[in-house]
Amino acid sequence: MRSLISSLDLSREEILDILKRAREFKEGKRVELQGDLALLFFEASTRTRVSFEKAAKDLGLSTYIVISSQSSITKGESFYDTLKTFEALGFKAVVFRVPFVLYPYKDLVQSLKLSLVNAGDGTHQHPTQGLIDLFTLMENFGSLENLKVLYVGDILFSRVFRSGVPLLREFGARVSVCAPKTLLPRETGVFGLEEVFDELDEALEWADVAVWLRLQEERQKESYIPSKESYFKKFGLTKERHESFKGVFMHPGPVNRNVDIDGDLIYSDKSLIYEQVQNGLSVRKAVLEWIME
Ligand code: CP
Repeated sequence: MRSLISSLDLSREEILDILKRAREFKEGKRVELQGDLALLFFEASTRTRVSFEKAAKDLGLSTYIVISSQSSITKGESFYDTLKTFEALGFKAVVFRVPFVLYPYKDLVQSLKLSLVNAGDGTHQHPTQGLIDLFTLMENFGSLENLKVLYVGDILFSRVFRSGVPLLREFGARVSVCAPKTLLPRETGVFGLEEVFDELDEALEWADVAVWLRLQEERQKESYIPSKESYFKKFGLTKERHESFKGVFMHPGPVNRNVDIDGDLIYSDKSLIYEQVQNGLSVRKAVLEWIME
């Protein structure tokens, strides 16, 4: 049974197969699958949840959405026992989003007779977002060879960063970061980064593409920045920076307006944000087809 827990689990061939199929779906390819798909969303989501649901429905799958506030999780049932329940009900595939890092329990959940798709587990991974970002850059640039990609902002808590970097590097991108020291992981060495920039203006001169990450206050139990105003001035996409930046920018969403990015710039001609959202549907169709095969 196929699962997608981490972008690191995918071979180059599998990535290329998924993206080729995503392109075909984007160009209008129609496929009819049969079966049931459970969507367990135990953490807030708009675009991931709806695009998975729409992708599944477009493919002919029956969808069953469970959100934590209306599930037996509120009565203390474990995530494992919830998955076991879906297995017992005859489901073959489950898409899940959870607030904790699943990785230590990967073998345990993969022993179930279920295909699992990770739609975000805590600060760990969000592999379909990584695939969307790779797909979007391939569409815009053709090749990623030597493309300079800068991740900006809350790197520490970012599953988007951890999912995206291995995929972009696999296809030749050069990756750097710019963040407050308090929002950098200790282990930056493991990501194969080219530079860790302190100054955003210098970093943007280097970059062809900048990926702003959301400041994830819901995960920050203490204060990691002096204030949102000072963070925006030092690490945000302000109008002045937007004016001088020669590249394009992305953001996985949802955007903190005037914290990550100036609210007037979200729809600018340098923004790929809504291409990312649009591509989410095709990429998730390709992933669902791949796991249901
Ligand atoms: N990018 C992303 O995961 O967005 P949602 O939280 O809205 O699903």
